[in-house]
Amino acid sequence: MEQISFLFNTIHESVIKENGLKYGLMELHKERVERAFDKAKSFYNEEKTNFLNLPIRKEQLSEMLEYSEVLKKRFKNMIIVGIGGSSLGTEAIYSAFTQRYDHEFFPEKRKLYFVDNYDARLVEYLMNNISLDDSVFVVISKSGGTLETMSQYFYIKDVVVSKKGLDYFKERLVFITDKEKGQLNILNDSLNVKKFIIPDNVGGRFSVFTPVGLLAASFVDIDITKILEGAQAMTDEFLNAEIEENSALKYSLIQAIYDQNKGFNSSVVLFYNDRFIKFSEWFRQLWGESLGKPSVDGSFRFGTSPLSFRGSTDQHSQLQQFIEGKNDKLYTVISFKESGEYRFQKPELEKFSYIEGYGFNDLLSAAKIGTVRSLIEVKRPVIEIQLSKFSEFEFGAFLQFFMIVTAVTGFLFEINPFDQPGVELGKNYSIDQLKAGLK
Ligand code: PA5
Repeated sequence: MEQISFLFNTIHESVIKENGLKYGLMELHKERVERAFDKAKSFYNEEKTNFLNLPIRKEQLSEMLEYSEVLKKRFKNMIIVGIGGSSLGTEAIYSAFTQRYDHEFFPEKRKLYFVDNYDARLVEYLMNNISLDDSVFVVISKSGGTLETMSQYFYIKDVVVSKKGLDYFKERLVFITDKEKGQLNILNDSLNVKKFIIPDNVGGRFSVFTPVGLLAASFVDIDITKILEGAQAMTDEFLNAEIEENSALKYSLIQAIYDQNKGFNSSVVLFYNDRFIKFSEWFRQLWGESLGKPSVDGSFRFGTSPLSFRGSTDQHSQLQQFIEGKNDKLYTVISFKESGEYRFQKPELEKFSYIEGYGFNDLLSAAKIGTVRSLIEVKRPVIEIQLSKFSEFEFGAFLQFFMIVTAVTGFLFEINPFDQPGVELGKNYSIDQLKAGLK
């Protein structure tokens, strides 16, 4: 896909010496890569819908498009009640296509609100101030058993029903959940509100292209058909490219080798464009929850810790550690250069004369170039991903790339990237504590 380029040249040992990898990497690991690739291909061909074959199947697309038109006519605010995979992807899309200050400067625009934590200041503040008449509540939970989400639902229901009654609440309530399992379905047996489905084989963090991510995106006029087309174009490119030319396979193999063979501890995503702010949170969840697992025989623990870095802001907080701290991180530098309107005049201070004629995005580009050069100079491995265009199509492709490489890295490790048994332990303890009473 010519709008997204992947640059792998700086991870070779000719550039970063003993920290680098040999040329002919794919050939050296051919059998292992082929096994993972075959697994991905059969996954795509599975009868059941999963994240890889989702974009081509376009399940519920027309229903989402139609229903979002209904919602748009009636409401200005959509409150997303969900957590983890049930909200981060939606937020990643929303923040990629809106501006940070839209809420303040364009009060008439339709908006999304995310209540993804127990924090009373977040949830109660929202409910104390939002106009109920203008709001629709979308409760998203694949399992229907997530306490964050369900407690928010109980609270919101209390507030709305006590002020306006149950019928009023039901008219502005949507569930996105499993076809038949889980607590939301039990609730819906009596409420009977509008429901969208998260397919069986699509787990939370891989569900951004289901109604989880797309209904809300469509509500704020993001073109979800184009998102799916981009995701499908990336899937096609991945499935059809030769192994040697296959960027997703190459990216996954590099990640796997730095984790398993080189003992690296972190995979850092550095992004140079604020459109990726929430993407980076989504990525952290996707990577961490999918890959932080033991090998089948229990002898090794996989999973580099996902970190994120916002350029240029975090150059003033994390870069010192990256350049002079532990050499145990693999870097992915993501950029999209867009041009603002303003160009600097000759500044009144001679010291800054070199910025004359540039715009802010030139400065951001220069910051990226500076960071990459300095990382390479101190022999840190860097992969670059550059977008030359940014629309729904490219962003759909970009998100799908990260889901593909996460799954394929899991296949290379021969682990299951789609479960998360480790999350249950803490969850159960906190529930036990609530049952026993808080001290
Ligand atoms: O990726 C995952 O499976 C998790 O992060 C879930 O999305 C998260 O725990 C929320 O789960 P649920 O959608 O069941 O409420």
